[in-house]
Amino acid sequence: MSLKKIVILFSGEGSNLENLIKKLHQKSVTVVGAITNNPDAKGIQKAKNLGIGVTILDHKEFNSREAFDTKLVEIIQSLEVDLTVLAGFMRILTPVFTGQIKAINIHPSLLPLFKGANALERSFESKMKVGGVSVHYVVTEIDAGEIIFQKCFDKSDMDFSTFKKNIQACEYEIFPKAVISSLNL
Ligand code: GRF
Repeated sequence: MSLKKIVILFSGEGSNLENLIKKLHQKSVTVVGAITNNPDAKGIQKAKNLGIGVTILDHKEFNSREAFDTKLVEIIQSLEVDLTVLAGFMRILTPVFTGQIKAINIHPSLLPLFKGANALERSFESKMKVGGVSVHYVVTEIDAGEIIFQKCFDKSDMDFSTFKKNIQACEYEIFPKAVISSLNL
């Protein structure tokens, strides 16, 4: 039986993109491609180094979020994927996208706490004793879709750099598992 297909969307470093490709591509799923809205994203080279083609769709070339999402949806649908995976994709998505695309997203906090931008910093600075990450389905309301997996750790007395490393380690562990789970593999 052929492997289920995913596409990965990203905007920056692409360390989750890299981790997903290394752990899943041609093992559990086929990563048919990656899409970025940022022509300068460091992840572009990371994907290419692993043999994954990247489509650059610069949001600055579109007049509205809806126009950008319309093109994005068209590209994703042409790839005939089973799942779209948002790995650090820093765009607010409209119903044009959320109404048509089955997608999951990773967020560096224990949702429903610290939704939206700067979650890493806000979670670190909070009085909470734990920090963590969440993978959830994408709906129109930001970071509000059904949670698929979460992982947390004790953050007492941690400096920011150690906190960030712990967040990344959690992300690299649960994101591939969430992809597999949401594809019913
Ligand atoms: C991750 O922390 C993810 O949770 C957030 O954006 C970051 C992306 O990092 N949505 P990278 O580009 O995968 O290194």
